[in-house]
Amino acid sequence: MSVLEKMTSKDAIALEEKFGAHNYHPLPVVLSKGEGVFVWDVEGKKYYDFLSAYSAVNQGHCHPKIVGAMVKQAQTLTLTSRAFYNDVLGKYEKYATETFGFDKLLPMNTGAEAVETALKICRKWAYEKKGIPENQAQIVVCENNFHGRTTTIISFSNDPVARKNFGPYTDGFIKIEYDNLIALQKVLEENSNIAGFLVEPIQGEAGVYVPSDNYLKDAKALCEKHNVLFIADEVQTGIARTGRLLATCGNCNCSDKHCSGTPETKPDILILGKALSGGAYPVSAVLANDSIMGVIKPGNHGSTFGGNPIAAAVGIAALEVIKEEQLAQNAFELGEIFREELGKFIPKCDLVNAVRGKGLLNAILINDTEESSTAWDICMALKENGLLAKPTHGNIIRFAPPLVMTKAQLLDCVAIIIKTLTEFKK
Ligand SMILES: Cc1ncc(COP(=O)(O)O)c(C=O)c1O
Repeated sequence: MSVLEKMTSKDAIALEEKFGAHNYHPLPVVLSKGEGVFVWDVEGKKYYDFLSAYSAVNQGHCHPKIVGAMVKQAQTLTLTSRAFYNDVLGKYEKYATETFGFDKLLPMNTGAEAVETALKICRKWAYEKKGIPENQAQIVVCENNFHGRTTTIISFSNDPVARKNFGPYTDGFIKIEYDNLIALQKVLEENSNIAGFLVEPIQGEAGVYVPSDNYLKDAKALCEKHNVLFIADEVQTGIARTGRLLATCGNCNCSDKHCSGTPETKPDILILGKALSGGAYPVSAVLANDSIMGVIKPGNHGSTFGGNPIAAAVGIAALEVIKEEQLAQNAFELGEIFREELGKFIPKCDLVNAVRGKGLLNAILINDTEESSTAWDICMALKENGLLAKPTHGNIIRFAPPLVMTKAQLLDCVAIIIKTLTEFKK
C-alpha cells in the first residue's frame, strides 16, 4: 500500500485499530490537512481545531514561516548528534535564553523528557549545591498533576489509568494538594531534604484548573525561603497560550502587554515543549541560570536528537512567529471574549455548569458525572458541526484553539458551541 493512496476515514481507523497499539482513544475523525486554525478530514470536511494538538499548534497549522525554516534546514543538515557542534543550536540557545530571561537552555525533544531533565537537574543541584545527603532528595509535586508518561513521572501521578500495573515506582516525591499554600508551607517546614517544587501554572490535563491569584507568587516565595527550586512545567501553558508568553512570565524580555515584568513568579527551572516548535517537530527545553544548570556536566544527560539543527531552526522560527504576530496579546483578548460570551450563555443552559481558563486555554464543566459519556457525546456533536475538541476527564471539555485565530473566527466558534449545546439531547 502506498502512503499516497487515498483512503476513507473508516479504512484509516480500521488500520490503526488492527496494527497500532491501543494507547489512545481518539475521536473518530481522520485528518489529512491543516492550515492556520483549520483542519480537513480525508473526505474533505473542514473543521475548526479547538485542541491544537494539546496546545502544541499555537502558531496555527503548517505556519509558512515555521515550515519554511524546517524545510530549508532539512535540505541542509538534519542531525549531527551532540558529538559534534552544529551551526544552528547556539543561535537558537541564544535567542531562546534571551527571550525567556535565563542563562542557559538544555534542549530535548518531548515534554516528558524535559520534565525528566528538570527533575535530574534539581536532584543534582540538591546534592551538590544545597548539601542534601545522597539519595535523600525529595521533590514536592501536586495532586492531579500531569507531566507526561515516563516511569518516573507516572510514579508521582495519581491517575490510576496512567499508573496501575506499571510499578515499581520511582521514590523521592511528596504529593500535596494543588493551589494549597498551607500544604506547601507545611511540607517545606517539616522536611529539610526538599530539593524542588514542581508545578503546572494551570493544571491543563486535570481540567484547566486555574489556581488562586497569588498562588504562584507565594509558592515561589516559600520555595525561596526554604532554598527549594521552584520548577514550572509550562509545556502546556507556555508560549503565549494563556495570554502571556509564559503563565509565569517574570523578568523575561517578552514585551507582552500583560506581562507583569517582575520576577515574582519567575521559576528557577522552566520546562517548555509543544508550541516551542509550533507543532511542527518535537522540540522541548529546560531553562535555568548558571548556578543551577552548571551542575550538568558532559555525560550526565543527553539525547541523540536533542538540539538537532532542524529543531533549532524550527525553535527560532516558532518563537519569532509568537512575537511578530503578537499571539500572546491575541490569546489574551480572544480569551476574554470567549469566557464572556460563554459566561452569558451558561446560565441559560442546564448542560454546562461553568467556563474557566486563561487566555485561550479554557474549559467548560459539563453538568454530569465523570463516568458519564455526556462530554464525549457533546464533542461528537461539535465534530458534526465543524469544531474539534476533546474531553479531558469525563465531564470537562478543553477548548484550546490555535492562537492565530481572528475575532470573527472565534465568534463563529462560540456560535457553533452554543448551537451544539442548545440542540444537544442526552
Ligand atoms: C504540563 C505538561 N507537561 C508535560 C507533558 C508531556 O509532554 P509530551 O506529551 O510532549 O511528553 C504534557 C502533555 O500534555 C503537559 O501538558
